[in-house]
Amino acid sequence: MSLRTFVPEAFRDFRTIAAVAPSSGHLARAMLKPLPLRRASTVVELGAGTGAMTQVLLNLLPDDATLIAFEINSRFFHYLKNKFSDPRLVLLNVSAEKLGRELRRLGCKRIDAAVSSLGLGYMAEPQRHTILREISSFLNHRGVFTHFQYIHGLQFSHGQLFRFNEIRLLRQYFGSVHRRVIWRNLPPAFVFICSV
Ligand SMILES: C[S@@+](CC[C@H](N)C(=O)[O-])C[C@H]1O[C@@H](n2cnc3c(N)ncnc32)[C@H](O)[C@@H]1O
Repeated sequence: MSLRTFVPEAFRDFRTIAAVAPSSGHLARAMLKPLPLRRASTVVELGAGTGAMTQVLLNLLPDDATLIAFEINSRFFHYLKNKFSDPRLVLLNVSAEKLGRELRRLGCKRIDAAVSSLGLGYMAEPQRHTILREISSFLNHRGVFTHFQYIHGLQFSHGQLFRFNEIRLLRQYFGSVHRRVIWRNLPPAFVFICSV
């Protein structure tokens, strides 16, 4: 069902969705394993899509935690609204750029972990910097942020595709950035594990 929702949207707006299919369970687990979820109080997900990571996150989070998930695509947002009835989940049909504003509105000062599936390479330069600045400034000193990039690593700029060095970008905002490859995904992806 999630494929039937995901694929038509990916063809309709590839630059925003930045993927042809939802993440595999292997990629979702690799993204979530490094996060300190067992005792987390507030966790953020950027680009929830059709919930491939959201479901696993909810399975791992404590009963009293809050998961704040941003999804800019309205069809995906409504799909997620119907799919999840978990009271720990706050779904926002808002761009990840508004992270700071939304966290302040919800009374949240710090986050314990964040996970991003955003296609940073397809975004305008100021937009990706705003998102990373906001995430790094809200992340607890012991918090962890994970993000993935498909291994082809493309960037869309001035109407052309280039290779995009995401690790260099992440190092501008995080003191520690590690990378691992997940082959069992379509396409395979690098997972970046970052802390401040
Ligand atoms: C590569 S898909 C990943 C979806 C899902 N997390 C998964 O792993 O299957 C990226 C998602 O980010 C969303 N997205 C893109 N730009 C966004 C933004 N600025 N704010 C919030 N969501 C965004 C897209 O609509 C899409 O659902």
